[in-house]
Amino acid sequence: MPAILIIGASRGLGLEFVRQYAADGWRVLATVRDPLKGRAVSDAGAEVYVCDVGDCASIARLAAALVDIRLDVVLHNAGIYGENQGLGQVEAEAFMTVMRIDALAPLLTAQALAGRLGEGGIFAAVSSNMGSMADNSSGGSYAYRAAKAALNMVVRNLSIDLAPKGARAVALSPGWVRTDMGGPDAPLEAPEAVAGLRKVLAGLSERDNGRMIHYDGRILEW
Ligand SMILES: NC(=O)c1ccc[n+]([C@@H]2O[C@H](COP(=O)([O-])OP(=O)(O)OC[C@H]3O[C@@H](n4cnc5c(N)ncnc54)[C@H](OP(=O)(O)O)[C@@H]3O)[C@@H](O)[C@H]2O)c1
Repeated sequence: MPAILIIGASRGLGLEFVRQYAADGWRVLATVRDPLKGRAVSDAGAEVYVCDVGDCASIARLAAALVDIRLDVVLHNAGIYGENQGLGQVEAEAFMTVMRIDALAPLLTAQALAGRLGEGGIFAAVSSNMGSMADNSSGGSYAYRAAKAALNMVVRNLSIDLAPKGARAVALSPGWVRTDMGGPDAPLEAPEAVAGLRKVLAGLSERDNGRMIHYDGRILEW
């Protein structure tokens, strides 16, 4: 039975990933940062762990708890949008919080959990086309865009550094999805976006290592 760890599974896309992988017969391990939110995740079919990806000690505890488990996929989904991101509103602390959660944390979880991935294993981070320089024609969202762009570089680096052990790294773009983060006007529902991303992961080829891939299978430009 293949095993996946979904980091940041309490709601939104993360919870939908749990539902779909569990329904598909995978062994699903999933994290929440608030234990009170664990019930919905275990009801959806996952073994639940607690992890706040903004806390290095919490990531270390997660890695220690999983030390004997071999994972086929580590999916870092946890992310925040942040506040006050228009030009003229940006504040240093708020900017750095988004960088910490959206860019640094996926690197720290990859670093802590790379040993759980074997030959053919995948580290996938949920990024965003808002982190693509080529795709940016509307401005704003300074912290979120900068953090996802940094995440994309982290993933590209991981794709090189994990290659000797036969593992791959990809950045996933879910599209604009109706979740707490995406808001009510988003055109996509989580089940469709997640089904698309699962198809992307299932069909990943060697050439895809280090790429950013949209939920519909398109390779996105950086
Ligand atoms: N929705 C979209 O349109 C869209 C588009 C592009 C990319 N994305 C990306 O997709 C991913 C999931 O987004 P979503 O739309 O499902 O957002 P969401 O509904 O706001 O869910 C965010 C998830 O991240 C978790 N999280 C936040 N900070 C965390 C921390 N410090 N430690 C551990 N978990 C933390 C949340 O846990 P809590 O419940 O504890 O807060 C929650 O499970 C994010 O990386 C986001 O950037 C979303």
